[in-house]
Amino acid sequence: MAGSGLLWLALASCLLTLASAEQPGFRNPAEPSSYGLDLDCGAPGTPEAHLCFDPCQNYTLLDEPSRSTENTEGTLLCDQDLQGWYRFVGEGGVQIPETCVPVFRCQTAAPLWLNGTHPTLEEGIVNHTACAHWSDNCCLWKTEVSVKACPGGYYVYQLEGTPGCDLRYCTDPSTVVDKCEESCRSEEECRLVNGVWACFCREDLNNSDIQSLQPQLDCGAKEIKVSLDRCRLEGLGFGEEVSAYLRDRNCSSIMQTEERNWISVTSPAQAGACGNILERNKTHAIYQNTFSLVNNFIIRDTILYVNFQCAYPLDMKVSLQTALQPIVSSLNISLDGKGEFVVRMALFQDQNYTSPYEGDVAVLSVESILYVGAILDRGDTSRFNLLLRNCYATPTKDKADPVKYFIIRNSCPNLQDSTIYVEENGVSSESRFSVQMFMFAGNYDLVFLHCEVHLCDFLNEECQPSCSTSRRLSDVVVIDPARVLDLGPITRKGAPSPGVMSGAPSTSGILLAWPTLLLPVLLAW
Ligand SMILES: *[C@@H]1O[C@H](CO)[C@@H](O)[C@H](O)[C@H]1NC(C)=O
Ligand SMILES: *[C@@H]1O[C@H](CO)[C@@H](O)[C@H](O)[C@H]1NC(C)=O
Ligand SMILES: *[C@@H]1O[C@H](CO)[C@@H](O)[C@H](O)[C@H]1NC(C)=O
Ligand SMILES: *[C@@H]1O[C@H](CO)[C@@H](O)[C@H](O)[C@H]1NC(C)=O
Ligand SMILES: *[C@@H]1O[C@H](CO)[C@@H](O)[C@H](O)[C@H]1NC(C)=O
Ligand SMILES: *[C@@H]1O[C@H](CO)[C@@H](O)[C@H](O)[C@H]1NC(C)=O
Ligand SMILES: *[C@@H]1O[C@H](CO)[C@@H](O)[C@H](O)[C@H]1NC(C)=O
Ligand SMILES: *[C@@H]1O[C@H](CO)[C@@H](O)[C@H](O)[C@H]1NC(C)=O
Repeated sequence: MAGSGLLWLALASCLLTLASAEQPGFRNPAEPSSYGLDLDCGAPGTPEAHLCFDPCQNYTLLDEPSRSTENTEGTLLCDQDLQGWYRFVGEGGVQIPETCVPVFRCQTAAPLWLNGTHPTLEEGIVNHTACAHWSDNCCLWKTEVSVKACPGGYYVYQLEGTPGCDLRYCTDPSTVVDKCEESCRSEEECRLVNGVWACFCREDLNNSDIQSLQPQLDCGAKEIKVSLDRCRLEGLGFGEEVSAYLRDRNCSSIMQTEERNWISVTSPAQAGACGNILERNKTHAIYQNTFSLVNNFIIRDTILYVNFQCAYPLDMKVSLQTALQPIVSSLNISLDGKGEFVVRMALFQDQNYTSPYEGDVAVLSVESILYVGAILDRGDTSRFNLLLRNCYATPTKDKADPVKYFIIRNSCPNLQDSTIYVEENGVSSESRFSVQMFMFAGNYDLVFLHCEVHLCDFLNEECQPSCSTSRRLSDVVVIDPARVLDLGPITRKGAPSPGVMSGAPSTSGILLAWPTLLLPVLLAW
């Protein structure tokens, strides 16, 4: 049974206000309009003046670990040939240091550092002085460097050679990205905190936009699970101390926190469980519930609501699980060493076997078809098929009633009744057959159905019955009453209801409208 899900979100007024209010100083870096698209153009008066580009899109990568300020290697290098926009990457670091660097580091004699702070996204391109440290002077040589912060969280630098050799631009190894042992999830980033590299929740999730919560919904056959990411929850202001519950608060014990990443709640895929609301339409059974999360720590009354629903396509099993009052019969069978089995049998209204009759009595209209479905509801279906060995109707509740009209006999349909159609029997965990409604001749208004079932071990037995016309009608039928499921009563529209059964015999006129069974015929088969 595969389900499909739907989620929607709501926040209590407290956080809703927060969601619409602009937090001072906060901006969404993913939104291009919130920062200036600072461009680099050709020099005024030159033919290139109109040629503009965004340096964040057009730079050269410099992946040279030797630029690290911690590198004291001997061979000296010089950057006099660097011209244009560059981005530093790799193990050496991704930013030029903002403090004076000791001489003979970065595999050069006079290391270049940036006298100024790196810009923010909105500042666009800024000009700073790069200083070369030499001869006890942290700024013996100077050169202009343009710097721009880019939306991906990195910087690009416009470098125009060096005032001499050996001068070289350094990188700060503490700015290396991804020094974490494990790769961080997409909601996290690798940061150096107290000298340790670890994955932390991304800063840019700190935004109070409820849509960013992106809850996950898993509609399983047995249970429904909603999961929320811890980082995204923190971004909305939820701390460590949260409690979660479903519509039925008694289900709060099913809240789980997993692996530092997720908070999840599970609800059994059952009507009423944990406050599940069941809705049915012709094709689906739909469970709805609400997951509420309460912040115990920061703001006591902050509540987050996640409404969710799982829709399960109706099949025989789902329809029996979700019908309010199906006319169903259930039988527990225990096979030695092979476990406990539950077989259920019900009356359905059409050939889709998804709308069971409900109530106390199945009332069928004249000439309607009776659809009977049986299912191995619990037990090892990987090993056993369900086989209806004998199905018969009786005019009374008594399964041992000597008056029996056989629909299936020794696993085969009664060929004398052309309205019998066995759709499935012995080939899976489900069996289904249909037959046109009938009434017993005589003073009977009711019909009861009985089926003797067999759990067929298809690895060791032939489960699919072979039914040939030449079967001997005299085959003896032995019925084990412990394996018989009983359904009924079934009555026809207009007949006296079983509760107020009068002794009045049905008129033959009404009986004629039904395929009437003559007892001598059925007993002979
Ligand atoms: C990138 O910059 C180079 C010079 O630095 C220039 O020739 C080229 O046209 C630029 N490309 C784009 C797409 O702007
Ligand atoms: C930065 O320097 C460039 C030349 O290197 C110059 O064209 C630009 O106007 C300067 N920007 C500022 C804000 O001073
Ligand atoms: C860095 O720049 C500031 C002002 O721009 C200046 O006062 C300071 O002396 C410079 N530092 C060095 C080491 O030259
Ligand atoms: C989010 O911002 C608040 C203050 O605005 C701060 O206290 C909190 O640490 C931030 N959380 C993260 C994960 O950056
Ligand atoms: C929840 O549990 C309490 C005590 O165990 C019980 O009184 C209450 O009726 C339960 N609520 C629901 C909705 O089942
Ligand atoms: C039944 O509900 C499901 C799930 O909501 C929907 O996809 C389907 O279209 C509905 N069918 C009818 C007949 O309304
Ligand atoms: C049949 O089995 C079900 C579940 O295995 C159990 O809940 C029920 O009590 C059993 N009924 C009988 C009559 O043993
Ligand atoms: C049976 O199911 C099919 C497909 O879901 C649908 O088109 C048809 O109308 C259903 N028949 C009845 C009698 O509901």
